[in-house]
Amino acid sequence: TDKTMDMITGLCKTRGFIFPGSDIYGGLANTWDYGPLGSRLKNNIKDTWRKRFIQERRSSFEVDADILMHPRVWEASGHVQSFSDPLLDCKECKMRHRADNLIDDFDPEAHADGMTKEEMFQYIKDHHIPCPNCGKHNFTDIREFNLMFQTFRGVTNDNKSVIYLRPENAQGEYVNFLNVQRTMRAKLPFSIGQIGKAFRNEITPGNFTFRTIEFEQMEFQTFCKKGDDEELYSYFKEYGRKYFEDLGLPAERLRFHDHEKLAHYAKAACDIEYLFPFGWGEINGTHNRTDFDLTRHQEYSGQKMDYLDPETNEKFIPYIIESTYGLDRTVLAVLSEAYDVEVLDEAKNDSRVVLHLKPCLAPYKAAVLPLSKKLSPKALEVYDQLSKHTMADFDETGSIGKRYRRQDEIGTPLCVTIDFETVGDSEKPADNCVTVRERDSMAQERVPIEGLERYIKEKIGE
Ligand code: GAP
Repeated sequence: TDKTMDMITGLCKTRGFIFPGSDIYGGLANTWDYGPLGSRLKNNIKDTWRKRFIQERRSSFEVDADILMHPRVWEASGHVQSFSDPLLDCKECKMRHRADNLIDDFDPEAHADGMTKEEMFQYIKDHHIPCPNCGKHNFTDIREFNLMFQTFRGVTNDNKSVIYLRPENAQGEYVNFLNVQRTMRAKLPFSIGQIGKAFRNEITPGNFTFRTIEFEQMEFQTFCKKGDDEELYSYFKEYGRKYFEDLGLPAERLRFHDHEKLAHYAKAACDIEYLFPFGWGEINGTHNRTDFDLTRHQEYSGQKMDYLDPETNEKFIPYIIESTYGLDRTVLAVLSEAYDVEVLDEAKNDSRVVLHLKPCLAPYKAAVLPLSKKLSPKALEVYDQLSKHTMADFDETGSIGKRYRRQDEIGTPLCVTIDFETVGDSEKPADNCVTVRERDSMAQERVPIEGLERYIKEKIGE
């Protein structure tokens, strides 16, 4: 079966991964809430990122900067001036669209992000692209619409009290460059990473959580000497690809997209794209931001942003190589890849939905299932014991077959069944063993409760 976004969205909503935001009020367009399983998955991805980017790398430091920053930050960064989307309105139905989306949806190979505003307008005209809402071709000119999410501080709503919700994490790392460098006594090259929310007032074309107004980024900035920048840039492109492959995204569904048209801060930029059920979509970006950001912060803050090279005694403003990951898009890519409908018996029309998640990402590592409710006390004992070491689920309702399928659907790698042999009776002594069933192969094995924790650890590679 070919998977569609509808299948993945449906599973997410019904199995507790992702719900529409403000659901009981009919939702709020393009906002989504992560449910119990979605939060687990998201946190597990954060853990893998932290391990890979902070823990396993020398001279890597994590910060947790505020979402709200001094308004001058966004003047210095260039966002107030030039962080905008090219929008146009349909004159017939009044629907507003992003020009680049209209083009990319019409022809994904057209790469609208390499076009100027004028070229986009011409392309839409030449190809007579219709409004996706009403089918007519009658658009206004393209206008730039700033993406910054603005709010007011304090009680007055005037210009002086305007502040912004950050549109990227990066600036939180840049304004802390000196603080981190000094307190950690860091030498170039070193990196500052951060996981956190960002906000953009986007016109969003749907596609579930792919483009939302509130989202989370995992950003990683490497400060280096000019001259080392190009090698680091290539290095982080590959580092990103490897990271995604290790999350279970196969090489053939990943590709680099080198940018021709660059953001205001970049000398070179490349995205990693994943082939979602709706087409290729960006999940990561590597940017050579040169000394643009720190130079601008020096200019706007009046603070020297120099680094003193202890070996050469040279003073200079470092270059920055940015490697940024969309967390929500990574979750969506991982879910899209893992989702599978497996035919078990064609004659009987029997199939199962299964999430082939890497065990380290699965919300639950194991589910404890008593074969009968009479066995629940023993099963709860096993569950309580396991829960001390691993994220486990407990389910006592429905037939065992149905319960296996439920766990398959949420990607639980192992099911642990407690049966009558486990506890024994007046005629037969307890064997103190459980049956462990593996999600992908569905193979079953009898395992002593005593060694269960170790067995699970070995099986899931933790
Ligand atoms: N600091 C650089 C920066 O923010 P970006 O390419 O604009 O670069 C980085 O964003 C990543 O954030 C993207 O690769 C994407 O994964 C994610 N992202 C950007 N806009 C998003 C949105 N509206 N919804 C969800 N994720 C988004």
